[in-house]
Amino acid sequence: MRSAVATGGTVALAACLENGSSLEVPDGVPEPLSLPERQHAWNDVLETDRDGNVEPPSHHVFLNLSLSSDPDSAARESVTAALQGVERAIEWSSSGLLFTLGYTPAYFDRFDATLDEAVDLPAPDPIVTLSAESDVTVDTTDALLHLGSDEPAVVLAVEEALFGDRTELNGHSLSASLESVFERTDRRTGFVGRGLPAERQSGLDGMPESEPVPEEAPFFMGFRSGFRESQATEDRVTIQEGPFADGSIQHFETLELELDAWFEESDHEQRVAQLFSPEHAERNAVGEYGERLGSSTGVESVVDDIHEHARERNTVGHAQKLARERENGEPVLLRRDVNTTDGNRCGVHFVSLQRTMSEFRRVREAMLGEEFRQHGLGPRQSNGILRYLRLRHWGSYLVPPRTHRALPRPDPER
Ligand code: HEM
Repeated sequence: MRSAVATGGTVALAACLENGSSLEVPDGVPEPLSLPERQHAWNDVLETDRDGNVEPPSHHVFLNLSLSSDPDSAARESVTAALQGVERAIEWSSSGLLFTLGYTPAYFDRFDATLDEAVDLPAPDPIVTLSAESDVTVDTTDALLHLGSDEPAVVLAVEEALFGDRTELNGHSLSASLESVFERTDRRTGFVGRGLPAERQSGLDGMPESEPVPEEAPFFMGFRSGFRESQATEDRVTIQEGPFADGSIQHFETLELELDAWFEESDHEQRVAQLFSPEHAERNAVGEYGERLGSSTGVESVVDDIHEHARERNTVGHAQKLARERENGEPVLLRRDVNTTDGNRCGVHFVSLQRTMSEFRRVREAMLGEEFRQHGLGPRQSNGILRYLRLRHWGSYLVPPRTHRALPRPDPER
């Protein structure tokens, strides 16, 4: 079913339905306006694991969209009708559908007016390591639609309803689609959750033949992630002022993973040291795939030791580096990343929400760990997980509040 989601289209949808995925899901809302104003308000309706961490939907489709018509009031009405049609048909939940529609800086450039000053969304400028990432594609299309559901058939059927021939969803007929307004220019897919990476690990580029991903791991690198205490709250990532208050800034980057090196050049202890911290490895604090961590990684207790770890253990942990960028002890990024096998290559679509792009840049620059070069830790050494990642795609988006999600002007209330 994961490969059906990756392929997309009506044949893939039929294959999903034959394999047991269902399109009979809980009904949506009779009145879409009763949904939260924040498009990114997912946490209240997400499932939680036994430790109280939210669990993202299992299957994801990301569609890059280019405008094929003027963003005028007729186009705005079509977008509103299409999205509300989906919301009436399918419940706002993981077992139904969660989605966001965000807009790039390039989208806003076509207007004479400038983007409201409370929105920090500069032109995309990828942060790359000095090991020279030569082919990073910057998203210069207009919008990104992110669809997520536990049911693979749902994401496919919604895509078909918005861009294909399907005029009915979950027993509800639809009156509008996005086809007259947007063209799909790129399509990416992902999945996340216990067991899914292990099931999908054979025959992938970048993955060793030994099939090393633990059965229980929700991510390809073999560990749990997204613990409650290391995630920003939805309030923390929400724009506070101006017409886009209740919106958020979304970052999306695609990273290819060198999992052959990750699993074959280092052992479990070194992997824990590079992902969490050397002390986590020494204390065996993580367990096989993170089962020993409840809702917190505890990295805050090792941030002050980071230079000592770099000097004496030749390693700093990814989470250890990034926890230094918390503000008053609270993380500023809400990460919603997923695994991908697009192009038969193992990777991550890293999605995060934050209040401003500057906050994202600060945290992302910390990930480069340039300051650890003085201890001999460049991007090819155990400087977190840098040496196993290749950046391939980079984009940033304003996810407006629901009121302004249909082709907003930069100054929507004027
Ligand atoms: C393949 C790519 C990546 C993998 C496998 C990965 C994995 C992880 C893991 C396992 C943790 C610790 C567990 C947790 O708290 O969730 C973590 C924490 C974190 N990661 Fe990543 N990550 C990746 C890329 C990134 C990127 C691109 C950023 C952007 C700056 C980032 C930012 C963070 C932050 C902010 C934390 C939390 C630190 C804290 O506790 O305050 N990660 N990551």
